[in-house]
Amino acid sequence: MNIKDFLQLLNDDIEDSFGGDEWKDSPFSDEFFQNIKESFFPIGLEIDFLKSHLKPGSILDLGCGNFRLIEHLNDDFDCLGLDFSFHPLKSKKVPCLCADYSQLPIKKRFDNILLSFGQICFLQKEHLKTLLVQLKKHLKKGGLIYIDLPSPSNFQDLDNFNSFESCDNTSQFWVRQYFPHNDTFSQKQVIVDHQGKLISKLSLSYQVYALSELILLFQELGYTVPYNAENYENSTIKETSPWMIFLISKT
Ligand SMILES: C[S@@+](CC[C@H](N)C(=O)[O-])C[C@H]1O[C@@H](n2cnc3c(N)ncnc32)[C@H](O)[C@@H]1O
Repeated sequence: MNIKDFLQLLNDDIEDSFGGDEWKDSPFSDEFFQNIKESFFPIGLEIDFLKSHLKPGSILDLGCGNFRLIEHLNDDFDCLGLDFSFHPLKSKKVPCLCADYSQLPIKKRFDNILLSFGQICFLQKEHLKTLLVQLKKHLKKGGLIYIDLPSPSNFQDLDNFNSFESCDNTSQFWVRQYFPHNDTFSQKQVIVDHQGKLISKLSLSYQVYALSELILLFQELGYTVPYNAENYENSTIKETSPWMIFLISKT
């Protein structure tokens, strides 16, 4: 690839790349997400929190990825993972379905549903609303939905945080942008080999959600919010909190 094409690639509009094709057939989600959450919260803390706060019984993990959570919960709960990417499901660590959760192929009701690790950021606002309405049909009375996601200040801090890394055989470029007019954050990755041949590229957009709009949405849809905190020790969410954690309940 010549420099002109490379710059074009880096500069291409990345504002609107919701969709998820990147996840579907590639090892992308393992590579990209496996360790990031650990830098915020050790997995043990999250698992202890879930074991002590979820309702006993069943769990449906929507967008379970590589079973990061339910492989630790499967002994204590009746777990089902669901993801539309075949790649991370291949290990089959926990019973799972390969499907899109916007068209859930199941009728069963669960005690708990997980939308973990920024899962709702893959959904634009109107789609989140539709999903939360649908999920009421899949939750038992008093059932809980666990939602955790980066805060707006976390995404804002990453605005224009572009990076370049030279690895053994490749060079990787990241371009990141925050778009306040529609509360989205987008990032693009371009990987080239040392001869300049394009190895892979991807663009991802995230919907950014503010605390108040989520609480209002949950309440508007008839959920109560028994837990909202910046961590697993129940600390109040502040403007500077990097993360937001919720349990919402179907009354
Ligand atoms: C951040 S990763 C995994 C997050 C996982 N919940 C965790 O806590 O580690 C997001 C996952 O959601 C999946 N995903 C995104 N949109 C989806 C959809 N509409 N239906 C099913 N899976 C989806 C992707 O394939 C990907 O594996």
